Amino acid sequence: MDGNGRWAKARGFHRVEGHRMGINVSEEIITAARDLGIQYLTLYAFSKENWDRPAEEVEVLMQLLKAFLLEKRQKMLDNRIRLNAIGDLSRLPGEVREILFQVMKDTELQTGMTLTLALSYGSRDEILRGIGKILAEASKGGRASFELSEDHFSRYLDTADMPDVDLVIRTSGEHRVSNFLLWQGAYAEYIFEDCFWPDFTRERFVFALEEYQTRERRYGKISEQLT
Ligand code: FPP
Repeated sequence: MDGNGRWAKARGFHRVEGHRMGINVSEEIITAARDLGIQYLTLYAFSKENWDRPAEEVEVLMQLLKAFLLEKRQKMLDNRIRLNAIGDLSRLPGEVREILFQVMKDTELQTGMTLTLALSYGSRDEILRGIGKILAEASKGGRASFELSEDHFSRYLDTADMPDVDLVIRTSGEHRVSNFLLWQGAYAEYIFEDCFWPDFTRERFVFALEEYQTRERRYGKISEQLT
């Protein structure tokens, strides 16, 4: 969801206005994904590196996140959306973390769509934390040896109960992955949109999904092997 700050700057607004508008767009895209029957939608809302932004901006983003969780809890329930979060959640302010966990608990039985917020998220950090969990388990001596396969390792990531990523959409004209779902997106399709996130719309989202449907995902094979 890149480009909130630049969207605001281009209009002479404070960056915060870009984030406010960005949240409205997020809501529109969540609703669109739910309507279209998408089972898993993940929003990269706050990266581990975003902690290094000016303290006032971090504070505002945490307040916006808190307001989003409190205001949208009922809408999530009405739309059968399960809220999930990935990232180093221990770094979130206590109050935000409590509300986040509460809404996750309140929505845990919903089956319409899983909405995952990547918060304080960095893919390298997630992979290292996963390795830490494996090593801690191994050092407890529970098992003399353990299988180290791709499937097994995936279960130690924050996304353990989620499928691999099919499509990543990044707005704002930047052509970077920026530490997002590196392991899970190994075979993802990427679509880069030139517009800033606040200018992204349901229509553009549908166009991106249509573009995705034209892609041939070969996973290293050749076309003739796919039928
Ligand atoms: C990208 O724009 C946006 C962010 C880094 C933060 C978005 C997160 C929130 C508004 C908080 C909660 C959101 C939801 C949906 C629950 P940028 O600031 O990187 O823009 P720039 O690259 O133009 O400066």
